[in-house]
Amino acid sequence: MLSKLLSPLCIIPFVLGAPAPSAVTLSTPGGNVPATILGPYSPVTTSFSFPLTSAASSATSSASASTSGVSTTGVITIPLSSYSFTPYPTPTLNPRPPIYPATDPLNPPSVSSDPQVVPDFAPAWSAAYQKAKYLISDYTIEEKVNITTGVGWAKGLCIGNIPPNKNFPGLCLEDSPLAVRSVDYATAFPAGIHVASTWNRALMRARGLALGQEFKGKGVNIALGPMMNMGRIAQGGRNWEGFGADPFLTGESAYETILGLQNGGVQATAKHFINNEQEHFRTSESSNVDDRTQHEIYAHPFLRSVMAGVSSVMCSYNLINETYACNNDKMLNDILKREYGFQGFVQSDWQATRSTLSAVAGLDMTMPGDTTFDSGDSYFGGNLTDYVNDGYISMARLDDMTTRIIAAWYFLHQDEAYPVTNFNAFNSKDEVNNKHVNVQADHYKLVREIGAAGTVLLKNENGALPLNKPRNLVLIGSDAGPGKFGPNEFPGQDGSDGILAMGWGSGTGDFPYLISPLEGIQERARQDGSSVFWDFDDWNTALAGNMAYGEAVALVFTNSDSGEGYITVNGNKGDRKNLTAWHNGDDLILAVAAQNNNTIVVVNSVGPLIIEPWIEHPNITAVIWAGIQGQEAGNAIADVLYGAYNPSGRLPYTIAKDVVDYPAQLITKGSGSNIVTIDYTEGLFIDYRHFDQANIIPRFEFGFGLSYTTSSDTDQEDLITAWEYGKASPIAEGSSTALWLHEPAFQVTFEVTNTGPVSGTEIPQLYIHHPSSASEPPSVLKGFTNVEISPYDIKQVSITLSRYDLSIWDVVAQGWRKPDGQISLSIGASSRDFRLQGDIPI
Ligand code: BGC
Repeated sequence: MLSKLLSPLCIIPFVLGAPAPSAVTLSTPGGNVPATILGPYSPVTTSFSFPLTSAASSATSSASASTSGVSTTGVITIPLSSYSFTPYPTPTLNPRPPIYPATDPLNPPSVSSDPQVVPDFAPAWSAAYQKAKYLISDYTIEEKVNITTGVGWAKGLCIGNIPPNKNFPGLCLEDSPLAVRSVDYATAFPAGIHVASTWNRALMRARGLALGQEFKGKGVNIALGPMMNMGRIAQGGRNWEGFGADPFLTGESAYETILGLQNGGVQATAKHFINNEQEHFRTSESSNVDDRTQHEIYAHPFLRSVMAGVSSVMCSYNLINETYACNNDKMLNDILKREYGFQGFVQSDWQATRSTLSAVAGLDMTMPGDTTFDSGDSYFGGNLTDYVNDGYISMARLDDMTTRIIAAWYFLHQDEAYPVTNFNAFNSKDEVNNKHVNVQADHYKLVREIGAAGTVLLKNENGALPLNKPRNLVLIGSDAGPGKFGPNEFPGQDGSDGILAMGWGSGTGDFPYLISPLEGIQERARQDGSSVFWDFDDWNTALAGNMAYGEAVALVFTNSDSGEGYITVNGNKGDRKNLTAWHNGDDLILAVAAQNNNTIVVVNSVGPLIIEPWIEHPNITAVIWAGIQGQEAGNAIADVLYGAYNPSGRLPYTIAKDVVDYPAQLITKGSGSNIVTIDYTEGLFIDYRHFDQANIIPRFEFGFGLSYTTSSDTDQEDLITAWEYGKASPIAEGSSTALWLHEPAFQVTFEVTNTGPVSGTEIPQLYIHHPSSASEPPSVLKGFTNVEISPYDIKQVSITLSRYDLSIWDVVAQGWRKPDGQISLSIGASSRDFRLQGDIPI
């Protein structure tokens, strides 16, 4: 007697050529070891009363300053969690290899395409805490406070500096997420958004490691990256510094980047915590976010950062639910330190500290130290000393702050012959401190590889790409050439008149050099004997058309830039004022396409653009989304154009047909003196989640990207996308027997067990249950197989389903269509004897 179909059911979209899942039996990671239960936590909300400090007028910058900084002009009450004054325990000290190996940040688990190992940093943190506690055991209050207080704006060699004390050499904090900022002899890597669009963990890790090595070589203790805000707003000025518009992709990118950075020796900083999603009003807006959305979307990448052992977290400028981020007990103490078990320290964004009492809300370090640049006073410093002396802030809390900062330094082994700072970030002409240490190694190779791997092929028709020894090519648009005065002509990269390979603001670095597309393509053209022409004038569209006319390939380049809000470029106050290509891009592309039926568009953009004016133009045969590639941009573009690199990049955000299709819009109206309210009413439905939910067809969806091996299937892919959105297949010759409709699309895998002593054959049957909107019978047979199985044996069985199997006939449209709603299925021994259930994942 057979007892069958008892094991888990696994349904996966079927990919031709991809290996079938090797097993479907679920096992518990780490075996059946019971989870470590931490001591009971009873949430208690207690109110404490403090004297109010008017810091700007009365704070002092030195820890030893008198108590006159404290005034008792009023009383504020802030709700604090019960743990606010005491350190949190380390999450677990019982590492359970092999899934949870005890891990040192200098020796992280190797990168895996499907990570199975969860590094446990708790023992390393614990050892670091012991050393830190010992080190500060003879520190005075003032000395402890000095460890928490930056020396003040531009008062040290780095963008942020903690002074030395006794045996502790002090700390150098330096930007940015893509380079060691304000130095020479360092590499300008692709931006965060570009490495995210590789969807390749090994490249994310390698970039982190190379960056970490460069920071260490320059004597930086704390790198101010990665940045992991979420791209909630398509125009968000700093989106390119981060990893795209999905929490999982951002979380994995952050995780790998941090493991890499810290493996290189430098402390990483996860920033900006949290909800700094636009540059307009970044210091005066309250992002109002519900708890579930906060956890599932915006905080998730920070959770992954903590799991990567991140040493520091930077709180952001904005308010969250009406409380400033650096003063936010809920976010810093309750979520980050208690719930996530974060063992490192929280530093403020530059001038984001708003109060001495931020210390009890979870802030450990104020940066750059003064309340406002050059003000000469500090919310910490003398004020913090006074607050501790007067008992408003406990010694335990000050000890915790100091311990966390010094423990992070031990955690990264920076007490062991770490290089001293060898540059002056504020003065490139300072020949005493600028030692010009070359830390670049051969990282340019990685830059080129990531540049190509993050490039997304959006359109490729008539075999336009890869280029095959074209007779000639014309390159049109300023983005194809070098900047007029070299790659660093704009301070803070606040503009570009050549190839765009970085946004602007603090998230930048100086380019050692920058390969333009002209240079990359010419080098290759030399090999092929092709003639190369160019025209970098974006505004003379008549000339562009003339130049393109009659040439074998017309490559037209455009871009779109954005950056940090303290700089405005062409009316873009950090955030982009629209989603239109810069430098006359749309008109330039159309002018070229009007004259050349092999027009290939290359876009270097910080984020999505509306490309409706030209994307369907029949003369535009290919589109390459080349992102923000760093110093090897031109070579990376040439590698993709010529097929030296088969495109594998995928969009880390959705490209909409219309800006209003995006779920959340940039807020530009409000007054800097009032708090601007930004309600995250879209909740969980950012980017593609909204397009899916609201049934809006984007131009190119999140995760989209072609490669040369599938480029001939573009028409089929369009049909599949339309089908997934519930559109009926168009009627035509052979439309009902079309390959895309009948190819295997989903694979259902399960196990059949013979629990008896006799061999036999079982007939597993697969029934589809359409949603009620389809008005189909409750169960319809769509698959079966026969399984011969010996006594007590288990067999893994698969049944595949096509799109046709899941479709209903649409009488009006005369085509096959997926019904609205969830399609489920059952596997059974008859049409009434179901043993397993599942949902189709579309
Ligand atoms: C930015 C941070 C940066 C800091 C130091 C701030 O304006 O928001 O990302 O690390 O400056 O430059």
